[in-house]
Amino acid sequence: MRDAQAPITFFRKDYKAPNHRISRTDLTFTLNPSRTKVASRLQFQSWSESNPDNLPLELDGEDLELEQVLLNGEKLDATHYTQTATGLTIHKPGREGVLEITVYIQPDQNTRLEGLYVSNGNFFTQCEAQGFRRITYFPDRPDVLSQFMVTLIAHEATHPVSLSNGNLVEEKKLGEGLHMTRWEDPFLKPAYLFALVAGQFVCQEETVQKGNGQPALLQVWVEPGNLDKTDFAMQSLKKSIDWDRTRFNLDLDLDRFMIVATADFNMGAMENKGLNIFNTKFVFANPELATDVDFENVESVVGHEYFHNWTGNRVTCRDWFQLSLKEGLTVFRDQEFSADMMAEGLDVAQADSARAVKRIEDVKVLRAAQFPEDAGPMAHPIRPDSYQEINNFYTVTVYEKGAEVIRMQHTLLGETLFQRGMQIYFDRHDGQAVTCEDFVGAMETALQEEHPELDLKQFRHWYSQAGTPEVLASWKQANGELELTLKQNCRPTPGQASKPAFHIPVKLGFVDVATGRDMPLALKGDSSALHGDVLDFTQASQSFVFTGLDKPVVPSLLRGFSAPVVLQSAHNTDDLIFLAGHDNDPFNRWDACQKIYGKAILDIYLQRGQTDGANTQAAVQIVGNLLKDTQLSDGFLALALQLPGEGTLLESFDGLVDPVAMHFARTTLRDLLACTYAADFKGIYEARHTPGQPYEYNAVAASQRALKNVALAYLVAAGGDDELNVAKAQYAAANNMTDRMAALSNLVHNGPANPPELAEFFERFSKEALAVDKWFMLQATVPASNESVDTLGMVSELLKHPSFTLKNPNRARSLLAAFAMQNPSVFHSHSGEGYALWADLVIELNTINPQVAARMARGLDRWTKLVPALQESARKQLERIFNTEKLSPDVREVIGKALD
Ligand code: ARG
Ligand code: ZN
Repeated sequence: MRDAQAPITFFRKDYKAPNHRISRTDLTFTLNPSRTKVASRLQFQSWSESNPDNLPLELDGEDLELEQVLLNGEKLDATHYTQTATGLTIHKPGREGVLEITVYIQPDQNTRLEGLYVSNGNFFTQCEAQGFRRITYFPDRPDVLSQFMVTLIAHEATHPVSLSNGNLVEEKKLGEGLHMTRWEDPFLKPAYLFALVAGQFVCQEETVQKGNGQPALLQVWVEPGNLDKTDFAMQSLKKSIDWDRTRFNLDLDLDRFMIVATADFNMGAMENKGLNIFNTKFVFANPELATDVDFENVESVVGHEYFHNWTGNRVTCRDWFQLSLKEGLTVFRDQEFSADMMAEGLDVAQADSARAVKRIEDVKVLRAAQFPEDAGPMAHPIRPDSYQEINNFYTVTVYEKGAEVIRMQHTLLGETLFQRGMQIYFDRHDGQAVTCEDFVGAMETALQEEHPELDLKQFRHWYSQAGTPEVLASWKQANGELELTLKQNCRPTPGQASKPAFHIPVKLGFVDVATGRDMPLALKGDSSALHGDVLDFTQASQSFVFTGLDKPVVPSLLRGFSAPVVLQSAHNTDDLIFLAGHDNDPFNRWDACQKIYGKAILDIYLQRGQTDGANTQAAVQIVGNLLKDTQLSDGFLALALQLPGEGTLLESFDGLVDPVAMHFARTTLRDLLACTYAADFKGIYEARHTPGQPYEYNAVAASQRALKNVALAYLVAAGGDDELNVAKAQYAAANNMTDRMAALSNLVHNGPANPPELAEFFERFSKEALAVDKWFMLQATVPASNESVDTLGMVSELLKHPSFTLKNPNRARSLLAAFAMQNPSVFHSHSGEGYALWADLVIELNTINPQVAARMARGLDRWTKLVPALQESARKQLERIFNTEKLSPDVREVIGKALD
């Protein structure tokens, strides 16, 4: 390891149960922005029967001003405890007792946004993962579950609303302009689920009926002036409650469930018991301000946090290495929720296609973000073995790959047995803090109730092994039989040189070339590896012989993306064109298109812009076929016409890459398609552009707009002034953010610098922070192919804009993440200026908000995959960051691993 302060690494294998439990926690907050008093009263008991008196009581605490400690009513002097920068240890607390501690904290100085902080004058908390220790001394670990009683005292004039977890049990005025509320949470919870909110708020509320007939009060709290943006979140919450009850048989367990929105938030949202706190980005939605994608995200994040109430809160994690226990499972649940919502009210065939659209969107995220992570210096199993800073492990691996690992169990068990497994999981573990192993154990029990011969033994490698497995597929068809050979390999990842084979569920079908129909699946000899249409692929290399196939077929493998692997199949171009048109699995139809586009772009990249290769011809043919196919839904067509993203392309290329050249190769194919099919795109656009029509958000309308705007992008790509004018007209007539943003992004990304619409947009929305974020983001993502814009120069100027600040995470991301992570052709500019600007900002953000800085610091994770000249400038900037004084452990871990 390089010098700098030695980092501390925490290991999963070092887990030790706590010495004490805290049966009850009383907290009294006297809220003052610059100096808040926190008085706690902890009732503790030793877990251990033997030698209980001598076990120290260990409390975590950081940046706290300790006033006093009382044990059983008596003031403790400093000889009875040890105070360090990270905690407080009471040497001999006894078998049980009451510990009272008073500390002071400074919420208005808290720019890290962990613990208790002030945003726009209001108080908020963020305690996951380890923020509670910045509020008071406490065993800040998820396996200490306590009953919380919270008293909030605040000035009525400035902070009239005060909220905490659970039920409001008392409310009164105290004199001198103070008022108090008292909150009791009936459920045991770990400290990371604690929350308080206080300030000026208004709410939209509704009473609904729970499954047991009892009423529950639902509230969405926002700062005054924002009640016109809460309807959709409230609807989403009600849908989430209904869905969890019908699909998972899980009901709301509280009398009161609140959502509060804040503009200053490190992540998306937080599932605090009964008091979910959200980034405004995932609550605010109305047609004027939110795009269709924003609406979709609000619905899914509201769902996600609500679903945590069972998967996360009722059953929580034993330690933070188990994070995917709640996150992977809850992402799986929110993905299924969104898919069911998109399919709602459609007939069977349409519903299938709608669910496939959602699946494709999720897989796109996995390939664009998780595959690179799994191939880079931060690669880790979904259940990591070690970390330096836990906040760095709220990753696409833990979340999205974690959800894939749950989805594979769902595929292996089927919906009925999976739900049985969930029931076993809750029967066994409700009210406990458990491990990933406990979840798999419950699923395995459900599986074995029906199939005693099966187990999930080998499947468990998905929890312990990092890296994306590669699957090689080849086949031979002759004499009515098809022999399918599968090979798997997983490249080394940090700390894991070689890995035993994974249990990979391969969903498959054989498509009859003549009819386009699926042939029946039958394995020759021992058929125990085939369950319906899912094949258990469990060895490094394995052959399967299928019978009854006397007509030529094309195998369709890994349907629905049944496992998070990279599939290298022996399909030739004709096979892929066939699958793109005829596969009965919509996901694989889309994927066949993507494979051809990817090959074509790589050819253009390798041949420096030449477009006469066979793959390019095939891409042109595929798009022609798609445009002729009248059976396709708008949502599917919109996805099938889009080329793979630049990040996905870079990752899929085996060798050192130049992201700038890759961008131009991709642009070349896009322009070729745009020119070839200009008339078709115009037709699609005109058939769906209905400016007078009132906006409504629903899956069908959204997919029409999506397709229309994909067509617009192709039109503008191929065209000149006339086509830019189509975008201008769309902007001028837009009655919703989806159409407005789509039009504006075409103007800004493909047109001359500084179009008047850009200024108009800022004027129109200058008071709407989330729209202003969009304004910054659009400019930071102008690609290198737009020669009339100097994007780097513009980003440097925007940093000085009066509306820019690094202190607000959304704003910081709108410029920095947009430019360093969503604009490869500019970020990787050969001058090295992109990297230098990025490093400056990471260094500045490091002192303000280490957690957000560490996210941004991931911008050069894959630097060793770059061509040598770029590697050299990348290394320089990585080292510059690494050698910065006062580097936070958060950023140090990320940069240190990149340099290792
Ligand atoms: N549990 C939250 C969610 O996924 C995420 C909170 C993460 N916060 C953090 N500071 N790492 O819903
Ligand atoms: Zn979550």
